[in-house]
Amino acid sequence: MSFDLVLFGGTGDLAWRKLMPALFQAFRHGTLPSGGRIIGVGRDDLSAEQYRARIGSRFDQVELAKRPSPQEFARFAALLEYVRMDLSHPADYARLTAKLQERQTDTVVMYVATAPALFTTVCEQLAVAGLNTGQTRVVLEKPLGHNLASNRAINEAVGHVFSEKQIFRIDHYLGKPAVQNLFALRFGNALFEPLWRREHIANIQITIAEELGVENRGAFYETTGALRDMVQNHALQLLCAIGMEPPINAHADAIRDEKLKVLRSLKPWTPESLAQDVIRGQYAAGSIAGVAVPAYRDEGGVNPQSHTETFVALRTEISNWRWAGVPFYIRTGKRLAGRDARIVINFRPTPHAIFNSQMDVSNQLVINLQPKDGLELHLVAQGQSNRRNSQTLSPVQLDLDFDKRFGSERVGAYERLLLDVIDGRLNLFVRADEQFEAWRWVEPIIEHWKNDVQGPRLYAAGTWGPSAASAMIARDGYCWSEEC
Ligand code: BG6
Repeated sequence: MSFDLVLFGGTGDLAWRKLMPALFQAFRHGTLPSGGRIIGVGRDDLSAEQYRARIGSRFDQVELAKRPSPQEFARFAALLEYVRMDLSHPADYARLTAKLQERQTDTVVMYVATAPALFTTVCEQLAVAGLNTGQTRVVLEKPLGHNLASNRAINEAVGHVFSEKQIFRIDHYLGKPAVQNLFALRFGNALFEPLWRREHIANIQITIAEELGVENRGAFYETTGALRDMVQNHALQLLCAIGMEPPINAHADAIRDEKLKVLRSLKPWTPESLAQDVIRGQYAAGSIAGVAVPAYRDEGGVNPQSHTETFVALRTEISNWRWAGVPFYIRTGKRLAGRDARIVINFRPTPHAIFNSQMDVSNQLVINLQPKDGLELHLVAQGQSNRRNSQTLSPVQLDLDFDKRFGSERVGAYERLLLDVIDGRLNLFVRADEQFEAWRWVEPIIEHWKNDVQGPRLYAAGTWGPSAASAMIARDGYCWSEEC
């Protein structure tokens, strides 16, 4: 199948850090359909050769299981083309039209990896230039807007040009292998479904912790913050994958209908819950792996008095028959104690203890997203003992490491999602109404913070965030998984 993939923002950070390596991996794995072109679009005046060289020079800095040899990179680079454009200049779209008219293809993908402020302009100009054939697909990177109103405005404007089945709103967490495995675990096995409910589950914890700070994205992050950057999208999508009902089939809309119901069932905020159940933090100076790192307020592009949050912890519930009363805790932050993304399902303890010391132990299912990718089931067992009649149980773990089981060269999130776009599979992309509901739910938090002069609580870089996050969960009688 022939395709042209146009990469708006082709010289930007996302292109060289994530998208090009993902396309290269697909090429290396032989899954990128042959006969494709990847057309980088940027403002710099570059020839195709110069563009290839620029991407190549950065390949040393990206995460790849194995570095390409010069010959292997050259074979991949032969797919790369370049078009110089200022996206706000309508006349420049003629250059893209000319490039696309060089040949007939089955599919054209327009990947808009630019600042969201340009999404509408790009889509409108593509329509004016006659570049939406009806078969064209458009990929939009997050964040799609910065609040409910701007999200709606973007989706409406894009929706005037492209139909919903042409629009691929990316949330790369949905492409992570562990998330695919969460769907497989829940809907491919009969074992867990009867237990997957309030009668058996005490609480659920979703943690996305990063060691990295804001890197060179200070100016972007300053107007975004952790709530918009991570909670509104990645964390809520994980919550949906855990909380949703089994879909009637594996088609995109069946899955998205169920996720939408979860988002609509999230407990509405009240002044009390906003005050008690949402903690925002910001990293102060500290150390990561023994290396001193600066405070967020001292990062480039950041206001020295900034109130932008780099950490959020919150408690919510899904108000329906399956989940009523079960707390879902979400926690995410930069410059935390480790790079650690995991979902912990804490089951209720046994109703009656007949062994010594059993009261302390509850079963736990841990879905590790990164750095490890796998599943752990925490059980108790009778350990070896020399003492007669010993009834002491010990915690044991069933551990499924997907890298060991399926090989560490597995398909990464962006690789998987890019192939899905080229093949036209929408299952792992977010529908406009899901995004709308997610924004509707976070909006009261944004409004609450606007009026909160106290600002975020500071935490030292390299810790697990402000102590208020532990106090919040302790109020329910629980603790974060690394604290228990
Ligand atoms: C992005 C955020 O969506 O996800 C970044 O904008 C964050 O701030 C990144 O660092 C985390 O992704 P991953 O795959 O490294 O967990």
